Amino acid sequence: MAAKYDLTHLIAPQLDRHLVFPLLEFLQERGFYPEEDLLKAKIELLNHTNMVDYAMDIHKSLYRSEDVPQEMMERRTEVVGRLKALEEGAAPLITFLQNPNAVQELRADKQYNLQILNDRYQIGPEQIEALYQYAKFQFECGNYSGAADYLYQYRALCTNAERSLSALWGKLAAEILMQNWDTALDELNRLKEIIDSKNFSSPLNQVQNRIWLMHWSLFIFFNHDSGRTHIIDLFNQDKYLNAIQTNAPHLLRYLATAFIVNKRRRPQFKDFIKIIQQEQYSYEDPITEFLSCVYVNYDFDGAQKKMSECEEALLNDPFLGKRVEEENFSSVPLRDEFLENARLFIFETYCRIHQRIDMNVLAEKLNLNYEEAERWVVNLIRTSKLEAKIDTESGTILMEPDHTNVYEQLIDHTKALSGRTYKLVSQLMDHAQPQSAR
Ligand SMILES: *[C@@H]1O[C@H](CO)[C@@H](O)[C@H](O)[C@H]1NC(C)=O
Ligand SMILES: *[C@@H]1O[C@H](CO)[C@@H](O)[C@H](O)[C@H]1NC(C)=O
Ligand SMILES: *[C@@H]1O[C@H](CO)[C@@H](O)[C@H](O)[C@H]1NC(C)=O
Repeated sequence: MAAKYDLTHLIAPQLDRHLVFPLLEFLQERGFYPEEDLLKAKIELLNHTNMVDYAMDIHKSLYRSEDVPQEMMERRTEVVGRLKALEEGAAPLITFLQNPNAVQELRADKQYNLQILNDRYQIGPEQIEALYQYAKFQFECGNYSGAADYLYQYRALCTNAERSLSALWGKLAAEILMQNWDTALDELNRLKEIIDSKNFSSPLNQVQNRIWLMHWSLFIFFNHDSGRTHIIDLFNQDKYLNAIQTNAPHLLRYLATAFIVNKRRRPQFKDFIKIIQQEQYSYEDPITEFLSCVYVNYDFDGAQKKMSECEEALLNDPFLGKRVEEENFSSVPLRDEFLENARLFIFETYCRIHQRIDMNVLAEKLNLNYEEAERWVVNLIRTSKLEAKIDTESGTILMEPDHTNVYEQLIDHTKALSGRTYKLVSQLMDHAQPQSAR
């Protein structure tokens, strides 16, 4: 029942067709939909692009036959013919762009360049438009590098804001598909600036563009090294957060995950919990429900249960479940970090609301054995100046009556705490006296 948490049906409509392809590949790898259905979905997707040969290959393997439908053959002839025509139309400008001496005449001034092109090379709006059409067609053929180059050059000469915008979307998609994460992030920011500008079309259109941008950005944010910070910076802005709440609440999964795995998440995290609270009855997702359990309902048993659902959801999410091969061992780094931080969240909150904590209960909630839990708490008490004592005889932690700022102290402390430091700490603590505190 892993498909239960799958968001592809909500995400795909907000993506360019070509971007849906990696999602289908992921689903196929995970194998939780029938292979045949996925192959049919791929053919359907490809039939709306110019990747005819690819569609034919899949058709052959799906039906185990060398024969392909007549309309696929006809489509192929049509695509080849059209490509040739577009190539001819774009040839004058492309020839110019491939000539280093000619290109040297260009300056950082668009009007000047258009003038030069027109006066000396007889290249006008018609030829510039042809470059766009050719680039777009190349993209549809799956030639993303060719498309990216021509779209870039087109934008340098384009005077129509709308066209320039659509060229930028195309460039972004191409960079994502080539997995050029740095360049893709630059294009994303460029696009965001245009979408957020005051003169950007109608408010409704603006919201729709923000929604597209956020969906496309998932590829970048869960692949780029600093993506987990960038996603919070983008999604957590009022305008974007409003768009999520009204039109795309499933995106909360990604923002929530970023908050949980991001050590630099505070103080926006507290405000985000308010959003989770507002949305807790309108959108169901193990990851947002986990946060509700811990921070809204203080339901620790519920939180513990949600953790395993979260794990399943993460593993089966194309953006979050990416595996990394490490010495014959395949791990999912984001899942590992998520679970570790989720435990810390439970502990932080548990300490905040209990004055007397049974070490056995705590150990169970943290999935640690008694000794590990004890060492861990001793360390927390020492390093975070936590107002608490451990009574080793009864196996309880006693929080000082007035511990209003425990939460802040723990947050500051646990920010720096990762699995590795924890292991190190437990080794050190073997030599310490695990009885007391302050
Ligand atoms: C992709 O496009 C570029 C630019 O048009 C072209 O040089 C290249 O041959 C194309 N590649 C393929 C595989 O068609
Ligand atoms: C908005 O204004 C800027 C600067 O005036 C201009 O460069 C840009 O093309 C305009 N955008 C649209 C969509 O009209
Ligand atoms: C990984 O697998 C290869 C071949 O199965 C083996 O030779 C190698 O020792 C393994 N490496 C580790 C770190 O287990």
